Amino acid sequence: MTQTIDLRSDTITKPTEGMRRAMAQAEVGDDMFGEDPTVRRLEERFCEITGMEASVFVPSGTMANQLAIRAQTEPGDEVITHPESHIIHYESGGPAALSGVMIQPAPGLRGLFTAEQVRALVRSDDAHCAVSRLVTVENTHNRGGGKVWPIDQLHAVFDAAHDLGMRAHVDGARIWNASVASGERVRAILANADSVSACFSKGLGAPVGSALASDGATIKRARRFRKMFGGSMRQAGVLAAAALYALDHHLGRLAEDHANARAFAGRLAETPGVVLDPAGVETNIVYFGIDPAWGTAAAACERCAREGVRMFDTGPGTIRAVMHLHVSAADALEAAARIGRALGR
Ligand SMILES: Cc1ncc(COP(=O)(O)O)c(C=O)c1O
Repeated sequence: MTQTIDLRSDTITKPTEGMRRAMAQAEVGDDMFGEDPTVRRLEERFCEITGMEASVFVPSGTMANQLAIRAQTEPGDEVITHPESHIIHYESGGPAALSGVMIQPAPGLRGLFTAEQVRALVRSDDAHCAVSRLVTVENTHNRGGGKVWPIDQLHAVFDAAHDLGMRAHVDGARIWNASVASGERVRAILANADSVSACFSKGLGAPVGSALASDGATIKRARRFRKMFGGSMRQAGVLAAAALYALDHHLGRLAEDHANARAFAGRLAETPGVVLDPAGVETNIVYFGIDPAWGTAAAACERCAREGVRMFDTGPGTIRAVMHLHVSAADALEAAARIGRALGR
């Protein structure tokens, strides 16, 4: 039987043999007591990578983002972020439920917005208004098609936030991809951001785990909320070991995912009826539109699945394909050919 090529997400990867060995051999302790040496090693490593003072290991990117919001706001405050951000679309209403904050959208192409928008959106210091407290940016931007923030535009947004008395959080679930694609070190991308979340369980291929980094006081507060939200773990070193292994062995290969995404997009764009600009593919995520005559994107995904390619529909006429650890260069081209067959029929 033809092997299915699963392009639904980079979260579907399974730990490799080497990673499983590292997990089995991990030294562990009770992390809630601060006694897991492997978790501590990962948190120190994440501080070095991000250039931030302190960090905390958490079960998911969602928890890292929600802790960042909770730790840096008070109920009634306002968070400025892009309307297509993960925080708005896919975190179960967490900002409202867990932090009691309002969101003010800052729209723009492919997940980006500008410092000028932040300056225009900030609310005045008036008892009628919510306090604009936090700006969040997503880099790379998932619903923006894996878009990498231009570094000057990003830093200008951080500067605007600070000038206006706000803090700046980076949802860096895929900061690794942004770094590899732009050639900038993670700490350079973050420059004077106040906090960053990053995932080990996406392109890096660990089974579980994310981290939040910031200044010491913010991470101390985040640890309290991690406990409150039920995200404190015990012998989590087995998971931290997978993340450390991923940093050592899988970071460099992200460039392959980006090359595979470009090759996939180039081939797929040749299918008449597919709406896709391969030049817009910067990292491992490819969004494409389909001819409305083919029916809904959901129905198109079902046809592709029958042809052996799994993907998610992300709107009535748009589909997302994501490259990852288990997709080879040959798989990427084969997937594009199968999709062409399934849709062109
Ligand atoms: C940009 C972004 N942020 C945060 C997350 C949340 O990560 P998790 O699924 O680990 O909660 C995701 C997940 O895909 C994401 O794409």
